[in-house]
Amino acid sequence: MQSLHDDSRFYKIYNEFMRNYVSRFFGGKISYSQHPKMRVHLAGTSSVSLWHRDVDITHRPDQINMWVPVTDCFSSNSLFVESDYGRSDYRPIDVRYGEVLFFDGGYLSHGTVDNATNKTRVSFDLRFSVLRSPLPALAQAIIGNRPG
Ligand SMILES: [Fe+2]
Repeated sequence: MQSLHDDSRFYKIYNEFMRNYVSRFFGGKISYSQHPKMRVHLAGTSSVSLWHRDVDITHRPDQINMWVPVTDCFSSNSLFVESDYGRSDYRPIDVRYGEVLFFDGGYLSHGTVDNATNKTRVSFDLRFSVLRSPLPALAQAIIGNRPG
């Protein structure tokens, strides 16, 4: 995917999806990563992502994570996220094919564990910023309760 040109069919669909669909839920104006990451976590293999907060890597406190698996995700083949800021009580988030997870990956620690299932996960990591102030209700619900 990293070798795809920006004018490829994939990026045309991706840009249309972000501009014309996702943005509608966030006041119609977002800025988003131009190249989302695709992740593959093979069945029976080790963790592919240690616990982390994206803001420590991206230095972008304004971003919202949209996690889009294209396989059913459950148990150890899924993404693990702490239940609240700083708790480190990681639990897998069940997300079925066709569903997406919006979460505050900038400040909620998350990662993966060894995939002990017999199901490989394929997912996309999308990140975007909402360019409306005050934040629309959905954005407020996702990133509006950060501590201090
Ligand atoms: Fe992350």
